[in-house]
Amino acid sequence: MSINDTEESGRSEELIRSLRENRSYVIRTTRMSPHQKNSLKRLRDRFCLPPIDPGSPGSGYNWETVFPHRAADPLRPVILDIGFGMGGELAELASERRDADFLGIEVHAPGVGKLLSEIERLELENVRIAQQDAVVVCGQGVPPGSVAGVHLFFPDPWPKKRHHKRRLVRPGFPELVAPLLAPGGYLYMVTDWQDYAEQMLGVMEESAVLSNPHGGFAPPQPWRPQTAFERKGLAKGHRIYELLYRCQDSS
Ligand SMILES: C[S@@+](CC[C@H](N)C(=O)[O-])C[C@H]1O[C@@H](n2cnc3c(N)ncnc32)[C@H](O)[C@@H]1O
Repeated sequence: MSINDTEESGRSEELIRSLRENRSYVIRTTRMSPHQKNSLKRLRDRFCLPPIDPGSPGSGYNWETVFPHRAADPLRPVILDIGFGMGGELAELASERRDADFLGIEVHAPGVGKLLSEIERLELENVRIAQQDAVVVCGQGVPPGSVAGVHLFFPDPWPKKRHHKRRLVRPGFPELVAPLLAPGGYLYMVTDWQDYAEQMLGVMEESAVLSNPHGGFAPPQPWRPQTAFERKGLAKGHRIYELLYRCQDSS
């Protein structure tokens, strides 16, 4: 390890530690349906990745081990979905995009159970799940420069002012995600909370690690499936805000 590598890993450990201080989630005690429980029991070992130990840096994933079919096709895009909830949008997208591999990240066990049952129903060989804090998964699990896209659809809005520090998109988040993107890769965030959308714009602009080809909010991307929380927001009359950032292409 060179001095620069040591500095770099020290910096990212500090970043992960500071982002983990105010967790962006609560583990809810929602009961799981018998079907979700059954799916978890039968399918977890096959489709859920072993948890990353936050205490041991360097314990990252190898995509060819995670998705064995990549040995024959290592250039398949890898896409992350942070906080997939019940996983409806992820299953729909993965079913349409069988040319890409998806890692869904979620801490909510019923959602993991639901997505596992969808993986089975739709025969999705291109989906794996990390049931763990996305800060640890992104900071330690995902190899730098290996990802074509990161989706953050309707992250928990933490609407009370005293809880804003728990919002996932806050200072430090761009520095967590940007290094994961391959050249030309994107970060796509969507929310129905106006003040969170404005916070996202501000945080991204301040950090300037990714470029915003749209200047401000982006138009909706026609390929994005509607999500469960989007339906709830629309039913309350909320406007949907889309933000799309790009990693500079090296060419
Ligand atoms: C409001 S829901 C949105 C779910 C889905 N994307 C949708 O649009 O319907 C946000 C989800 O993010 C998950 N979440 C929040 N912070 C997380 C973190 N740090 N790591 C993993 N999951 C997280 C929560 O458990 C919750 O299920």
